[in-house]
Amino acid sequence: MILESILTTRNADGTPHIAPLGLHVEGDDLVIAPFRPSRTLDNVARDRCAVVNWTTDVRLFAGPVTGRRDWPTCPADQVPCPRLSQALTHAELEVIAIQDDAQRPRFRCRVVREVQHAPFRGFVRAQAAVVEAAILATRLSLLDADKIESELAYLQIAIDKTAGPIEREAWGWLSETFAAWRAAR
Ligand SMILES: Cc1cc2nc3c(=O)[nH]c(=O)nc-3n(C[C@H](O)[C@H](O)[C@H](O)COP(=O)(O)O)c2cc1C
Repeated sequence: MILESILTTRNADGTPHIAPLGLHVEGDDLVIAPFRPSRTLDNVARDRCAVVNWTTDVRLFAGPVTGRRDWPTCPADQVPCPRLSQALTHAELEVIAIQDDAQRPRFRCRVVREVQHAPFRGFVRAQAAVVEAAILATRLSLLDADKIESELAYLQIAIDKTAGPIEREAWGWLSETFAAWRAAR
């Protein structure tokens, strides 16, 4: 199973780094598997820790992949990494094993601390649509253009029917990215 998360790590200069990443669930452990090159990869390899932030604010998925990486953070409790200030729950991760790979290394992590900050108030289909579109936005050079367009048309239905202001803002950022991609083709 893969959980779509917002991972926060610390850059070499101490500033926070925020990236959406799918975490692989393996028993009680979580595996971080970034493709090279990746700032997240460099940070996790150096510090051997990260924070996973569970949030339904899908701007955190659309923002970083459209150049909006400046989100409020604060220090985690037990690992030298930042966490999002606004997550529903955050879990602090320590790397317990590294499987190196030329393309996609794997960092097996153990949860050393988990704190819930706010309640989960239910699914919105538009949230899933934004997450899917954010993934598409990171794969524009890899996927067939017709496939991207047909998936976007389908995802738009959930946006039109169910989105609130947060999902609409996130969708707007992604739509700008897709418009620029179309214009460049
Ligand atoms: C929902 C979602 C899941 C993602 N999962 C991964 C992943 O598992 N591995 C990966 O390398 N990139 C993944 N990406 C793309 C990264 O967020 C993106 O490439 C980012 O720039 C990572 O690079 P960085 O570590 O240099 O910031 C995902 C993007 C989204 C929107």
